[in-house]
Amino acid sequence: MDERPVGMFDSGVGGLAVLRAFRELAPAERVLYFADTAWFPYGPRPAPEVRKRAFAITHRLLESDVKLIVVACNTASAAALADLREAFPGVLFVGMVPGVKPAARRSQSRRVVVLATPGTLDGELLRRVVDEYGRGTQVARVAGHGLAEAVEQGVHTSPAVRARLRELLGPEIAAGADTVVLGCTHYAFLAPVIAEEFPGVTLVDTSEPVARRAVDLLREMDALGPGPGGIDLIVSQDPEDFRQRMARLGFPPATEEAVP
Ligand code: SIN
Repeated sequence: MDERPVGMFDSGVGGLAVLRAFRELAPAERVLYFADTAWFPYGPRPAPEVRKRAFAITHRLLESDVKLIVVACNTASAAALADLREAFPGVLFVGMVPGVKPAARRSQSRRVVVLATPGTLDGELLRRVVDEYGRGTQVARVAGHGLAEAVEQGVHTSPAVRARLRELLGPEIAAGADTVVLGCTHYAFLAPVIAEEFPGVTLVDTSEPVARRAVDLLREMDALGPGPGGIDLIVSQDPEDFRQRMARLGFPPATEEAVP
């Protein structure tokens, strides 16, 4: 039993998809969620800049004595996960890996699309999983320019975003792709819209498996918390606005705010 909170971070609301899955699996856990809104979006930033943020946030979360850190952001995982593990050998990290393996397994047409930020698409992590699991499958990489912003603003079901999704994904799907990897945690909130625009296409969202991995690790270490569970927030810019974004996505109010 370990009373300490779990740390989790993202550039904004994207990681809430992982947080939601985590809370369903482990409702008694306290989670300290760091939303790096001052630096949103991570996707177009150079990897060293994102890495610097990931290190600063890790230091801050460790000051609050977290027992495990979930890097609930694909761009930050691509830029920093390996380095974080090396730099903090005593800390357990769980991060996002683009779901190429399940996508390749599920695709009937052997054509899949990875929809992600430029940072994730250019990263070594995606190259590795494609090499390892994508053999025999055509893997198209599509940059979701503007999509994370739309999710942050709560306009992700708008006609403009639907049109953008048709523009981004339509050509690959028309060419035979039957599976789309949601390679950015923000895009989990786009899943219902993508499913409506492209009925029959399989969507791969790794939020739940990542949350499950974190819970499994805690269980293995006998480090699950005694409850009561809850969410504490650190927001690097405009916490009130972030609370409203959370509410729009159906989250209960965070119970306490930790000051960075
Ligand atoms: C972003 O901040 O651009 C989105 C980050 C991600 O989950 O990849």
